[in-house]
Amino acid sequence: MRVFQLSLITVFFVVMALVLLGVNSYWVTYQKPEPQPIAFPHDKHAGKLNIPCLQCHVYADKGKFATVPAVKICIDCHITGGVKSPEIDKLMAYWEKKEPIPWVRIHKLQPFVYFSHKRHVKKGIDCAVCHGNLKVVKTVKKVRTFQMGFCVSCHRQNAGPQDCWTCHK
Ligand code: HEC
Ligand code: HEC
Ligand code: HEC
Ligand code: HEC
Ligand code: HEC
Repeated sequence: MRVFQLSLITVFFVVMALVLLGVNSYWVTYQKPEPQPIAFPHDKHAGKLNIPCLQCHVYADKGKFATVPAVKICIDCHITGGVKSPEIDKLMAYWEKKEPIPWVRIHKLQPFVYFSHKRHVKKGIDCAVCHGNLKVVKTVKKVRTFQMGFCVSCHRQNAGPQDCWTCHK
């Protein structure tokens, strides 16, 4: 009886450990923010200062990629030295060295999927539908996994193209 109880306890802990491992790997895949070279706060810029997304992501309504801003865009404001912090020191160091900031890419579709920002943004679909409300988020992370069902169900509801070849060229 004693031995039986003990082995039940062991099984319980092993199962718990496996569950925790599973939760952890899910967390790492979808939630853990990638460390960026500079801790850029979206909430302060897009929220508090209300800078339009397109002022920094200038190609989101013009091309396939939204693109991240050139250092020059940051410098236009931060050259005044009004904001002082170690993170701003890092920004100025890149500028002085004339080096691009090596931002870590967060969203990336598999190579067999075709996506372009232009048509979606021109159609008036808010960035938040696919990226969450970045006006209140400090660090960008994935809020969607961009599985086929996510894309196709919106296309079905909004008369978007549903032929396989629109997304698989
Ligand atoms: C319909 C969904 C959708 C909308 C709306 C959308 N995005 Fe995206 N975004 C994506 C997907 C999917 C990717 C990954 C694309 C890839 O890997 O080619 C992405 C990637 C990005 C990237 C990184 C890669 C790149 O394109 O430079 C940025 C920056 C970005 N989006 C900004 C924006 C901004 C700003 C808006 C609003 C003006 C916006 N997105 C609207 C789906 C969307
Ligand atoms: C329109 C002007 C403007 C632009 C453009 C701008 N910033 Fe800022 N930034 C500010 C202001 C103002 C603050 C202070 C906000 C506050 O603390 O409420 C700030 C705060 C910051 C902070 C937080 C400082 C800290 O540690 O508290 C960082 C980091 C930063 N900016 C980096 C950047 C980078 C990188 C870019 C370019 C991608 C950029 N900024 C573009 C005006 C701007
Ligand atoms: C002051 C400039 C600035 C503004 C305004 C701004 N962003 Fe960004 N954004 C950046 C920078 C710099 C990065 C790269 C660093 C990072 O991921 O935090 C970035 C990254 C992103 C990414 C992740 C790109 C990737 O690698 O997948 C998305 C999505 C995004 N921004 C969407 C938005 C949306 C939506 C808005 C408006 C609500 C917005 N941004 C406003 C500067 C800006
Ligand atoms: C919130 C709704 C919505 C979501 C989510 C969405 N789309 Fe779309 N998409 C549309 C609409 C609406 C159109 C048609 C736009 C038009 O008629 O101008 C479209 C058009 C397209 C086109 C054809 C136009 C072009 O840019 O070449 C492609 C390709 C496309 N979407 C791919 C995707 C992929 C891949 C995803 C998922 C990562 C996705 N879409 C997610 C609404 C959406
Ligand atoms: C609106 C865009 C869109 C359309 C239309 C679309 N797909 Fe996809 N498809 C995707 C995306 C996004 C993925 C990537 C899923 C992922 O990475 O998990 C994908 C993945 C796939 C995969 C890889 C297996 C998987 O599920 O990950 C196959 C096979 C596939 N699609 C076949 C098709 C076929 C067949 C059609 C036409 C009936 C079609 N797709 C239409 C967006 C689309």
